[in-house]
Amino acid sequence: MVKPVVVVTRKWPEQVEARLQQLYDVSLNHHDQPMTGAELQQAMCEADALLPTVTDLINADVINVANRRAKILGNFGVGFNHIDIHAAQAAGVMVTNTPEVLTDCTADTAMLLLLMSARRGAEGDRHVRNKQWTGWRPTHMLGSKVTGKTLGLIGMGRIAQAMARKAYHGFGMPILFHDPFPPAADTIADLNATQCTTPEDVLRQADFVSLHCPGGKSTYHLLNAERLSMMKPTAHLINTARGDVVDTEALVDALISRKIAGAGLDVFEGEPDVHPGLFDLDNVSLLPHLGSATEETRVAMGNRVIDNLQAFFNGEQPPDQLT
Ligand code: DGY
Repeated sequence: MVKPVVVVTRKWPEQVEARLQQLYDVSLNHHDQPMTGAELQQAMCEADALLPTVTDLINADVINVANRRAKILGNFGVGFNHIDIHAAQAAGVMVTNTPEVLTDCTADTAMLLLLMSARRGAEGDRHVRNKQWTGWRPTHMLGSKVTGKTLGLIGMGRIAQAMARKAYHGFGMPILFHDPFPPAADTIADLNATQCTTPEDVLRQADFVSLHCPGGKSTYHLLNAERLSMMKPTAHLINTARGDVVDTEALVDALISRKIAGAGLDVFEGEPDVHPGLFDLDNVSLLPHLGSATEETRVAMGNRVIDNLQAFFNGEQPPDQLT
């Protein structure tokens, strides 16, 4: 039987690349260089399925390329703001993603950044490496206590709920959240969480604000200068969602002028470029989009893409169908 032709845009963990090779006539990206728009268009013409990820801009030009062969985009990742979903839907191209399997690891990264920002973890590491440490003293590098402080979540999907669970049960943090589509009442009760009508209500009350909303037009610069100024001067902002949810220029200003105490960022506007103003600041902790970056999770994400493909090629509905 002829195997479906599948193009993978970036390098995947070996174990899942091996599974792909068993099942499909697969083209892997051994050099792991991002594909250009023209290369993505070519892949759409040559393959039955394209398996992109967050670094690939799958816009209407890529989807509507003449003589397109691909019928499915099996995204490696849960976020899909790099894919023009409306163009895909209009063109009859199915899109799937990989929810659930990365929930805990991404929530762990949000907690990691929260702790780093509160307790000056990255700054302390630099201090030791730069041989600036002269010894223990009662007033050296004082941070902010985490246990018992209020965590505010903007967006209350799976990852936010997982973070809330860790924060509430592990650190005794009261939870506030805003989400136009709140979770079920028993989930809210289990976390003893308080629902806020607006994001502003969260920003005004929280000691730590963590962003968990999708990227895209509806959340572009949601955290702008005006909203940042509503946060407490002692508060920290954590972003593991998407870079453009925050107006970075306004964030740099807020961090310099100490309108907020600190920030922990795993995602950036226009990444991998990073606003140069952030490099000079000690009160921001920076990670290179590591949210789901564990061996176990990246293998599980690859398997989830393959499960979606298998269903599609068997004429069944993929479990994570978006369009
Ligand atoms: C996700 O899964 O959305 C990660 O941010 C990588 O795309």
